[in-house]
Amino acid sequence: MHKIDWDLGSAELGDFSHFMEKEIFEQPNALENAMRGRFSEDGSTAHFGGLRMTPQELRQIDRIVLCACGSAWHACLVAETLIEKFARIPVEVEYASEFRYGNAPLDKNTLVFVISQSGETQDTLAALRESKRKGFKTLAICNVVGSTIAREADGGIYQHSGPEIGVASTKAFTSQICIAAMLALYLGRMRDLSYDKGVRFVEALKQLPSQIKDVINQHEKIKSIAHKYINVHNFLFLGRQSLFPIALEGALKLKEVSYIHAEGYPSAEMKHGPIAMINPEFPSFFLATQKTLFQKVVSNMQEIHARKGPVIALISEGLEVPPGIADDIINIPSVHEAVQPILATVVLQLFAYYIALERGCDVDKPRNLAKSVTVE
Ligand code: G6P
Repeated sequence: MHKIDWDLGSAELGDFSHFMEKEIFEQPNALENAMRGRFSEDGSTAHFGGLRMTPQELRQIDRIVLCACGSAWHACLVAETLIEKFARIPVEVEYASEFRYGNAPLDKNTLVFVISQSGETQDTLAALRESKRKGFKTLAICNVVGSTIAREADGGIYQHSGPEIGVASTKAFTSQICIAAMLALYLGRMRDLSYDKGVRFVEALKQLPSQIKDVINQHEKIKSIAHKYINVHNFLFLGRQSLFPIALEGALKLKEVSYIHAEGYPSAEMKHGPIAMINPEFPSFFLATQKTLFQKVVSNMQEIHARKGPVIALISEGLEVPPGIADDIINIPSVHEAVQPILATVVLQLFAYYIALERGCDVDKPRNLAKSVTVE
């Protein structure tokens, strides 16, 4: 017997037109649920009930392999940047579908972590089973309680996002990143992340639900920007460091729900190829919220602007794009770098949703896609 932690109302549309819209708007709540009861009393670290590994065992880990598919694979890429930065543990990210047919040399202190909203994706399950067969310790981040992956992993972390019905992942994805950030904090505090930095990290996470509400409150503005681009055939999403995976996710979301071709690239890398495609009908969406990298990203924007490519810039409060370079600017609150990917994601989800809506697409059930892919 399993007691589910959501009621029937969470699987109904209520006042919303689509599940995708509802699930985007539910994110403040979903993230509260992902964090509830998971911070230490001294407010400097996170903890998780279901890892089934002692702090001593976790300290022995000197490598982490992350495996997943689709949006969850993008969550793995964000986890990689955060764990390497804050916990200083080398991380590798593998497509689950590739992992089982490769033969990556893994040493004995490697931890295999899989991420899956449904807990039923065939490729991810196969990667988990292959790792277990080889004798590795396996953990999972899953949303669906009692799913196959949740049952077969040695331990794990539940997302508590509630049911996600829209095929394109939204609230489950941001919850996965939130848990990845908490994991980076937890592993970091076991190593050399100071108490002060831990406290600042926890405070930043706790503010997230209200900051997501602030971002969602800009939905009319995002909708009017989206309106300008409903007829384009291509879109480029650009970001650096932990925002590069969000550029990939922004492109994936747009492709999935609106059928506009889109690509995600590291901002500076676009000059090695994609820039050849830029013209007035090929817009670029820059994720430029990081203060330290801002000037570099602005120079990338200038390169696109000089080729007459439309530029949308997502920036943090306190940053300014020089006049005339960006066609549209969206501001998000200035926040800890570990949580920027989450706020940026919410903007891109709304953007994809409104474009798809105006194009008359079935946002909750995009053609050819399934919520959970249970075949190879
Ligand atoms: C499908 C869905 C995606 C999802 C991916 C992985 O392709 O359409 O939205 O990201 O599967 O699903 P999982 O349940 O393993 O997270």
